[in-house]
Amino acid sequence: MPDQRPRVFSGMRPTGELHLGHLFGALGNWVRLQEDYDCIYCVVDLHALTTAYEDPENIRLAGREMVADWIAVGIDPSRSIVFRQSDVHEHAELFALLGMVTPLSWLERVPTYKGQIAELGEALETYGFLGYPLLQTADIILYKATQVPVGQDQLPHIELAREVVRRLNHLYGPIFPEPQALLAEFPLVLGPDNRKMSKSYGNAVTLGMPDEEIDRLVMSMITDPQRVRRDIPGRPEVCNVFSWHKLLGAPREEVDEVYRGCTTAELGCVDDKRALAARVRGTIAPIRERRAALLAEPERIDEILEQGAERARAIAAPVLGELKGAMGLAADA
Ligand code: TRP
Repeated sequence: MPDQRPRVFSGMRPTGELHLGHLFGALGNWVRLQEDYDCIYCVVDLHALTTAYEDPENIRLAGREMVADWIAVGIDPSRSIVFRQSDVHEHAELFALLGMVTPLSWLERVPTYKGQIAELGEALETYGFLGYPLLQTADIILYKATQVPVGQDQLPHIELAREVVRRLNHLYGPIFPEPQALLAEFPLVLGPDNRKMSKSYGNAVTLGMPDEEIDRLVMSMITDPQRVRRDIPGRPEVCNVFSWHKLLGAPREEVDEVYRGCTTAELGCVDDKRALAARVRGTIAPIRERRAALLAEPERIDEILEQGAERARAIAAPVLGELKGAMGLAADA
């Protein structure tokens, strides 16, 4: 029997290989949440279509690859529901229904909307993109999820979801709980160039990266800019190499030793980076192997997604039926 643990829902757009920024941000948190919550993790391919609608082939491939990454880092599809949004048509149907009761102004004032259009241009001036946060609302409430692990940037979307829920409950009776954002303290992972780690900047250590490329990226890391010579002591607190040692879970004594070596100039940046590269390789290697094994068997990934979709539908269909009935439609169509 299903237990009574609170339900978590989160989604990620399939946009390409995941990297350490994801692992130490959202994804690591998703893995941990499996201990205390019933988790539903969704490949939001319809959301990907709101921006990447000109690139359908990539959406399918990136979705599979992302699921391989998820499982490789510890998302367990026998415990959590892992599925693809477009496989459960209730998402699209609920999205359409929500569109009937949501004032346009609510969507137009979501800060990500104008911001993204300003950044990415008029290709985003579609009906679907305006509706992006409403589709996200549908994702969450279709499962009556109460906790939504997201980054800070998503708070306006969760706020919209809460407003829409209040409106629905006011109009049609108390059907949906108000979802809450579950914010975790994420370290901001910077790439070797000290910019936010991102595939588009070319500064990401991806979860499938071969050792040689890891070495190359790590050896290119910016250290303390004042340490222009080997014999000048460094300042670990401004050095990204030092942050990465901690991020990657170096034991306390080793962190202290790097700190001491750097601040006394006993340890040079090159040696420090070599040690870090070994640490990064040690983190990535097992993940890379697991994801490669999964990607070698795409039918296994498809099977996981199919089973996930079935489990998702079993929750989603009755919830959608409940709302349709309350809205004057045939509930079991
Ligand atoms: N918009 C989210 C992001 O870009 C992805 C997402 C889609 C999502 N549907 C969701 C997150 C539902 C949480 C819950 O990160």
